[in-house]
Amino acid sequence: MNFSNIMDSNCYSAGHPVDPAVGSMISARERLLGRSYRLFYDSPVHLVRGQGTRLFDVDGACYLDAYNNVASVGHCHPHVVEAVGRQLATLNTHTRYLHQGIVSYSERLLATLPDQVNKVIYACTGSEVNDLALRVAASHTRATGVVVTADAYHGNTAAVTAVSPSIGGPASTRPHVRAVPAPADPSQFTADIAAAISELRDSGFGVSALIVDTIFSSDGIFPDPTVLAPAVELIRRAGGVFIADEVQPGFARTGASMWGFTRHGVIPDIVTMGKPMGNGWPVAAMAARADIVEEFACEEPYFNTFGGSPASMAAAAAVLDVIEDEKLMSNAAQVGARLRDELTLVTHPRIREVRGAGLYIGVEVITDAGGPDRSGAKDLVNAMRQRKVLISVCGTHGNVLKIRPPLVFSHADVDWLCSEFADALDSSL
Ligand SMILES: Cc1ncc(COP(=O)(O)O)c(C=O)c1O
Repeated sequence: MNFSNIMDSNCYSAGHPVDPAVGSMISARERLLGRSYRLFYDSPVHLVRGQGTRLFDVDGACYLDAYNNVASVGHCHPHVVEAVGRQLATLNTHTRYLHQGIVSYSERLLATLPDQVNKVIYACTGSEVNDLALRVAASHTRATGVVVTADAYHGNTAAVTAVSPSIGGPASTRPHVRAVPAPADPSQFTADIAAAISELRDSGFGVSALIVDTIFSSDGIFPDPTVLAPAVELIRRAGGVFIADEVQPGFARTGASMWGFTRHGVIPDIVTMGKPMGNGWPVAAMAARADIVEEFACEEPYFNTFGGSPASMAAAAAVLDVIEDEKLMSNAAQVGARLRDELTLVTHPRIREVRGAGLYIGVEVITDAGGPDRSGAKDLVNAMRQRKVLISVCGTHGNVLKIRPPLVFSHADVDWLCSEFADALDSSL
């Protein structure tokens, strides 16, 4: 089986000793499910309930969730639950009927985006909207070449797997795609983008798009806000468009603004979003400049049965309510800054750097010799899981701890995480 960096860096391996109840559920999954699935941690967690930043397992044990960005406004937030329940009990159809929900939500959503990005189309997943964005870009540019980062993940359709090198395997290395290393070094990033552009031109694909997760999460979390603008300028000069994949940093996570691209001072041609948009209800969107999306829209209609349904709009509107009412952007900025500071204070020779923006934080783990330490990072993640604090890993070498809690993370949660982190470091590295 091909190694998949994004899926296999923190996954359960068959045969790892687990308690009998967990073992029998794993066996049932193996009997029933396709082998594509992975479970987190050496000892998988069987969850039955969530509330805010807390998750509870089948035995009633409480975990601190420092990983899940989908339940972004907190697990089972009552305002979102009530809004979806009320809409489901009233009407749930699709976008071929008039409904006020999609109009009201679109006005609110577009008001959070730059003026130029003024049209929106809905789907259910980040994969679908990235797939759509690639189609829109190709129809606008009449080119197919795409530039991505070396450990990008943009989703799971055929077209999007092709621009997701971190999945691994033949479907994620396609000839019309050029992958450049993540922007650890800003000047090198620009040079790499320029080289990718000239290769795409020489190979006849032309330049359709640069698609980037604006916090570079699967690449290892690179928050430097100076790297994107020069890359976007190069892509535009080559006739391509810039697609900002906001599935990870969007909806206030980076603390500075609603969208990750704002930190970089760039205005995308196309913006895609999903995951936290409905706090667990599947809803996603592609927003774009009118002139770009109109071209595609005149060529072919787009319909997505569940995308933009009254229930999905109710969920998405309720999420915006909570972000505003509970001031979650400023919570992400303040609590995120403190979490970064506290993690930085827990010094250890095997921790090279703590970096991030808002509540998106990476902790880079190295070996005694100073190289990337994949197995050390995995051991730390599992030690934290044993201490009931849930985090994971990311990055090309799987050696960056990924800390990305719900936006309602509190100062008390920071204390809890940091004290377990200090213990886990001492015991596992
Ligand atoms: C940056 C990014 N884009 C797109 C996707 C795909 O989203 P979905 O799983 O909703 O299809 C993901 C999922 O992890 C993601 O991290």
